[in-house]
Amino acid sequence: MVSKYEEMIDIKKLPRHIAVIMDGNGRWASQKLMPRTMGHKAGMQALKRTVEACAEIKIPILSVYAFSTENWKRPAEEVNYLMQLLVEYIEKEINELHKNNIKIKITGDYSTLPRVCISSINNAIEKTGNNTGMIFNIALNYGSRKEILRVVQQIAAQVKSGKASPDTIDENLINSLLYTGDIPDPDLLIRTAGEMRLSNFMLWQIAYTELFFTQCMWPDFNREVLMNAIWSYQQRERRFGGLK
Ligand code: IPE
Ligand code: IPE
Ligand code: MG
Repeated sequence: MVSKYEEMIDIKKLPRHIAVIMDGNGRWASQKLMPRTMGHKAGMQALKRTVEACAEIKIPILSVYAFSTENWKRPAEEVNYLMQLLVEYIEKEINELHKNNIKIKITGDYSTLPRVCISSINNAIEKTGNNTGMIFNIALNYGSRKEILRVVQQIAAQVKSGKASPDTIDENLINSLLYTGDIPDPDLLIRTAGEMRLSNFMLWQIAYTELFFTQCMWPDFNREVLMNAIWSYQQRERRFGGLK
């Protein structure tokens, strides 16, 4: 079924990079008197739908915020469930993703995740490494401030070793050292579940990103809401500080 917004969007002016803060899994479940874990499970289905829809309409890059550096504050059972779900998702979807020429990328320090997650991720990155279709970037154990701190430390080390000097440090150098150094900044950021904040997501990268907030809980996210976001993005006039 072709949705209303889908008929309205200009397929020639799609965002090059869509980033999504997938929020509201817990509330979705609570509203249905179910445990939060059920919300995460349903959220995985929403993720699957979103990846498929974006790949189908040929969005070049899709980034999703899956686990933040602050999410470790949650109860261990929830954290463990999320890690388990991640492995389950990758294992279940990897062949389909690969078949669809999708290339998996991870943003964030996944070296501290449980060992099964690391091997599953490494396998997925390796398997899809030569794919030329959509880049599917998963932000995992990701926090923007930690990412920027890491860049500062790397630059300090470069200065100390003489490889860089204070006057050669520029935005390009910083960009190149971010986890996202090999991809352009998001054009469109979608956050579900009504929260109007960024929760430490890509703070440097979204300097000029168009923001789209929706009340829709992540497990209810579907093609129509995605197309609504893209349509809304296409109505905006991006000026980047200049004039039209
Ligand atoms: C998003 O849903 C998933 C993660 C942050 C991993 P939440 O778990 O934050 O759901 P709410 O915000 O509590 O409803
Ligand atoms: C942001 O959602 C993190 C992810 C979606 C992974 P949170 O639910 O953690 O954000 P806050 O705590 O409401 O700001
Ligand atoms: Mg939340």
